[in-house]
Amino acid sequence: MDSDYRKVVAITGSSAGIGRDLAILFAKRGYKVGLLARRIELLEQVREEIVSKNGVASIVECDVADKEVVKAAIKKIEADLGCIDIFIANAGVKNGMNSSNFHAGEASNVFKVNVFGILNCIDAVLPGMLNRRRGHIVGISSVGAYFSVPQDPVYCASKAALSSLLEGMRIDLLPKNILVSTICPGFVKTEMIANDKNPQPCMIESDKAARLIFKAIEKKKKVYNFPIRLYLLTVILRCMPTRMASKILNAL
Ligand SMILES: NC(=O)c1ccc[n+]([C@@H]2O[C@H](COP(=O)([O-])OP(=O)(O)OC[C@H]3O[C@@H](n4cnc5c(N)ncnc54)[C@H](OP(=O)(O)O)[C@@H]3O)[C@@H](O)[C@H]2O)c1
Repeated sequence: MDSDYRKVVAITGSSAGIGRDLAILFAKRGYKVGLLARRIELLEQVREEIVSKNGVASIVECDVADKEVVKAAIKKIEADLGCIDIFIANAGVKNGMNSSNFHAGEASNVFKVNVFGILNCIDAVLPGMLNRRRGHIVGISSVGAYFSVPQDPVYCASKAALSSLLEGMRIDLLPKNILVSTICPGFVKTEMIANDKNPQPCMIESDKAARLIFKAIEKKKKVYNFPIRLYLLTVILRCMPTRMASKILNAL
């Protein structure tokens, strides 16, 4: 590989929030960036920001819940930028559904994006990585994967499914020289949690989250949980009797 080789990173959900900040950061660090999301006008703004700083980016409108659309989107990114070295499955949704407003149809909408959307993405990028015997798949999960909070059990369940999927794939793909990283953020100040009335302890800004995630990806961490205090709280809550965990959650 020649010394001016610029790696290609593709990021789903890069029209806003963490994905957007990650895209700008990767471009700043010399990567060619493939941007995927549904809101094309926002992707165009991110692309313009990257290009104005001499970066390279390609955008494609993509709903990760649609398998064929994802396949075509990955093809376009690879045609524009070259083979994908790092794929970041970041697109996600949260609907604040708990047991008092439970609705199976709504729950399945969350799983369509947070779980099946990621399966669709892996389906589209993995064959190429296997052929090249090289690649890095990163999934943006959540500390909610470790402890499901009563305000958002469906969202947390979708993230637990994602973390579990990535854990098994990591071991399976290691001999094939494909890395798999699971990133578990705590609360990050983005559109996703802007209207949340629930407590959001240890919240951090999205650009800071992007910097921490970037470092973890460069260090090829298998799992990265942050902020550490919130992660430790989820581990402790998990071991506690339910009433005690409930008291602690109410006191936050
Ligand atoms: N914010 C937090 O506190 C927090 C904590 C832990 C984990 N996370 C995870 O971090 C990731 C990014 O979240 P965020 O906080 O940056 O949220 P955000 O600001 O709401 O951004 C979500 C991104 O996902 C995209 N998206 C949603 N549905 C999509 C679909 N069907 N197809 C393609 N793209 C889709 C959105 O773009 P379009 O609407 O343009 O499609 C947007 O770019 C998510 O996986 C989230 O679960 C967030």
